[in-house]
Amino acid sequence: MRVFLTGGKGQLGVALQKALAAHEVIVTDIEELDITDGVAVKTAVSDANPDVLIHCAAYTNVDGCAKDPALAYRINGLGTQNVVLACQQAGVDLVHISTNEVFAGENPDGYEEWMPLNPINPYGRSKAAAEFFVRSLWPHHYIVRTAWLYAPGGRNFIHAILRRARETGQLRVVTDEVGNPTYVKDLAQAISQLIQTKQYGTYHFVNSGACSRWEFANEILRLAGLTNVVNTPILSREFKRASTPPPYAALHNIAGAALGITLRPWPEALADYLAEHGTEA
Ligand SMILES: NC(=O)c1ccc[n+]([C@@H]2O[C@H](COP(=O)([O-])OP(=O)(O)OC[C@H]3O[C@@H](n4cnc5c(N)ncnc54)[C@H](OP(=O)(O)O)[C@@H]3O)[C@@H](O)[C@H]2O)c1
Repeated sequence: MRVFLTGGKGQLGVALQKALAAHEVIVTDIEELDITDGVAVKTAVSDANPDVLIHCAAYTNVDGCAKDPALAYRINGLGTQNVVLACQQAGVDLVHISTNEVFAGENPDGYEEWMPLNPINPYGRSKAAAEFFVRSLWPHHYIVRTAWLYAPGGRNFIHAILRRARETGQLRVVTDEVGNPTYVKDLAQAISQLIQTKQYGTYHFVNSGACSRWEFANEILRLAGLTNVVNTPILSREFKRASTPPPYAALHNIAGAALGITLRPWPEALADYLAEHGTEA
């Protein structure tokens, strides 16, 4: 297969390059292809003539999105519309990567693939707009929602927790934000299976099981042998930030599981990640 990546140098893009090593992969990121330039996107996709395009490019800084919602829409909404129209014109299958933040996070039972969207912050709204373009303009799509990604070298929660734990010996972490920590390696593997199926639709690919940020931090500390660090549970109203995350936005993988595509439990994936990449922040 010939696979075209947008945002191919980000956390997920790098993992996809590895997972798709048996395929021909065309990697683009903002230096080669800015998705907000519609003409450039159409030209690049039609020249490359891929079988499938995996759209990883996005403005992923959720607090940045809250401070500048217009920019969030321009990259995540309009940028995705450009990608969708390019795929439509060239007849290319599209994998669009979306997020648990398209949901309000008010459902303690979590979210299945077909539940209605109700984003509560500018990042979530820009990603919901993107999903709308994908669904309404081009049927040959897979929408893959994921959450709480971590990757080696990434600016992610694990590195932030380890750094702070070593620097200060104490943490304050929220208990009222629940989600699914997800290792990009497992997500990339699942996407590499999905693109072979032609079962277009919406999927939730996250490591299975859910936890709060506080529980996630505890498990990181335990696996890193930092059990002397004090991890104080707090509520999100005590932790000021620009964006309001959905409180309970755990995703359930129903549609992928029906095709035999499942991801392992999050504690197992986290242990594997730390064993592979070390616990030095
Ligand atoms: N990270 C998470 O926890 C998470 C959770 C749920 C869903 N997702 C979704 O998963 C996808 C991949 O996330 P990720 O963590 O791999 O993100 P990432 O590491 O931030 O990678 C995104 C890439 O897109 C690039 N980019 C930004 N603006 C662009 C533009 N205008 N044109 C082309 N490329 C542009 C970024 O470049 P710069 O770095 O130079 O800006 C970066 O290389 C995104 O769609 C994201 O919304 C992520």
